[in-house]
Amino acid sequence: MITINEHYLKLQSSYLFSNIAGRVAAFQQANPDREVIRLGIGDVTRALPAACIDAFHRAVDEMAVDSTFRGYGPEQGYEFLREAIAENDFQARGADISADEIFVSDGAKCDTGNIQELFDTGTRIAIPDPVYPVYLDTNVMAGRTGKFADDRYQGVVYLDSTVENNYVPDLPSEPVDLIYLCFPNNPTGSTITKDQLKAWVDFAKDTKALILFDAAYEAFIRDDSLPHSIYEIDGAKEVAIEFRSFSKNAGFTGTRCAYTVVPRECRAFDSRGDKQAVHPLWNRRQCTKFNGVSYPVQRAAAAVYSEQGQAQSKALVDYYLDNAALIRKAVADLGYDCAGGTNSPYIWILGQRDSWEFFDELLNSAGVVCTPGAGFGKCGQGYIRLSAFNSHENVEKAMERIRLALG
Ligand code: MLT
Repeated sequence: MITINEHYLKLQSSYLFSNIAGRVAAFQQANPDREVIRLGIGDVTRALPAACIDAFHRAVDEMAVDSTFRGYGPEQGYEFLREAIAENDFQARGADISADEIFVSDGAKCDTGNIQELFDTGTRIAIPDPVYPVYLDTNVMAGRTGKFADDRYQGVVYLDSTVENNYVPDLPSEPVDLIYLCFPNNPTGSTITKDQLKAWVDFAKDTKALILFDAAYEAFIRDDSLPHSIYEIDGAKEVAIEFRSFSKNAGFTGTRCAYTVVPRECRAFDSRGDKQAVHPLWNRRQCTKFNGVSYPVQRAAAAVYSEQGQAQSKALVDYYLDNAALIRKAVADLGYDCAGGTNSPYIWILGQRDSWEFFDELLNSAGVVCTPGAGFGKCGQGYIRLSAFNSHENVEKAMERIRLALG
C-alpha cells in the first residue's frame, strides 16, 4: 500500500497566493464587467530591462548555431554570471564573497524551500511571524513543525514582528538551530540596521545556529546606512546563507533566475557535534536534483551588471518605489497606520478589522486586490499588504477607488 507523507495534511488548505488567485477568479466570474487592479502578489508588471532583452536575444541566436549551441550547463551556474554577481553584489560592498560560493538557480522561492533538506528533521526552526509562507510550509512538509493548533504549529519558535519592535524580531529566548530572516521584509516592508543584524550574527555564532537570510528585496534599499547583504556583517560567512533574486530588481518573475550564497566557511554540525561545511552539501544537492538555469536566461541576468543594465534596473526599481510612496501617502491620508513603502515595495497596513474581511471589502467595493496579513501568520491578523508592483496609472486609480470606498 502506498501511503502519503502525512505532514502534508498539517498544511493549511492551500498556498496563500493560490487561495487569493482563486477568490479573485471567482469575483471576476461573478462580475465580468468590473476591472480588477492587482496589488496583491508581488509580481512585477514592467518589461525586462533593454540590456537584458538584448543579451537574451543574442544568447538565443547562439543556441541556433551548432558551433555556439550549449547543452547542459554547470549545475552551479555559468562562470560569467557567478563572477559578475560576486564582484558587483558583494565585493563592491566590501563583502568578501567569491564566485564559487554562488549557486545560480531558478528562484529564491525554490532555494528557500529546498535548503531545509540539508538539515536534520529534529532541527528547531525559528520563523518570523508574519512570514513569507514558503519558509514555514516547506518545514511543515518535512515534518519539522509539529501539529497546528491555536493558529500556530506547536514545534516552531515564532519570532513575533510587531509594531512594538518595529517589525524586527527580538532574539529568541529559547534554543533554536535554524533562523529565517528576510530584509527588506516581506510582508511588512521593514528594514534591519547593521547593528540589529550583527546581534543576530553574534547570536548564531554563540548558539551554533545558522541564519537563512532572504535578501530578495535588497535593490529597494535607498538608505545608505542599511545592509544589502548579511555578509556586510563581520563573521556572517560562518553562520549565514543568503538568497537573492533577479525577480524584483530586474523583472525576472516570469523569466526565472536567482542565486544562493553558501560561503565556504559556512558550517553546521553532525550528530557528534563535529563541524561540517554546508557548501559541499548544497553543491551535492544541486548536482543531484537540479540541471541549471538556461543559458539565455543566465546571459540576460548577467546583463543586469552591465552599465546600461545597472541604470535600467535601478530605473525599474525607482518606478516601483514611486508607486510605494504614493500608496503609503494615500493610506496614511485615510488615517491608517502603516509600515514599509520606503526601501521596500510592500506597504503593511493596519486595517482595523479582520484581514480577510478587509480583503473582501477592498475587492468588492474598490475592485482592488491586496494580500490579507493573516495569510502570513497570526501577527498579521488585522493587517493587509499592498504591493507597489503595477503601473503608476493603475496605482493612482486603485488609490482613488480606495479613497471613495473607505474615505
Ligand atoms: C509575494 O507576493 O510575497 C511574492 O511575490 C512571493 C514570491 O516572490 O514568491
